[in-house]
Amino acid sequence: MPKWEWDKRLETGIEEIDDQHRELFNRIDKLELAMYSGKGAAELKQLVQFLISYVDEHFEAEERVMLDAVYPGFAKHVHQHNEFRIFFDELMNSCRDRGADSYLAIDVDKKLRSWWENHILKMDMDFVPYADKR
Ligand SMILES: [Fe+2]
Repeated sequence: MPKWEWDKRLETGIEEIDDQHRELFNRIDKLELAMYSGKGAAELKQLVQFLISYVDEHFEAEERVMLDAVYPGFAKHVHQHNEFRIFFDELMNSCRDRGADSYLAIDVDKKLRSWWENHILKMDMDFVPYADKR
């Protein structure tokens, strides 16, 4: 169910990345709530558009940090980002096309929460020791 509480374990200590992760959690939560509560197509479309471009912006920021840090796991990490981009675009298109739909909202909830939590805890935390804390 919505209300994705921020969890301290997910903090990387890199301010830009943590701020973006928190914003992503908030926006995904907003999208789920909008879908559960039957918000109109225009509002859903706006939330979906924001998320698609924000995920891109976030991945680019992380990839820049990894490149600057000459992180050896860069290629593997980018591969996981690219896989997620494809899956996420499909899921967001379904949200936009199907509109307010509580079954799809449950799907968004389950799939996105577990992906982000796993990705942050395993993949993102792995490059943190290489990166400058800004
Ligand atoms: Fe990442």
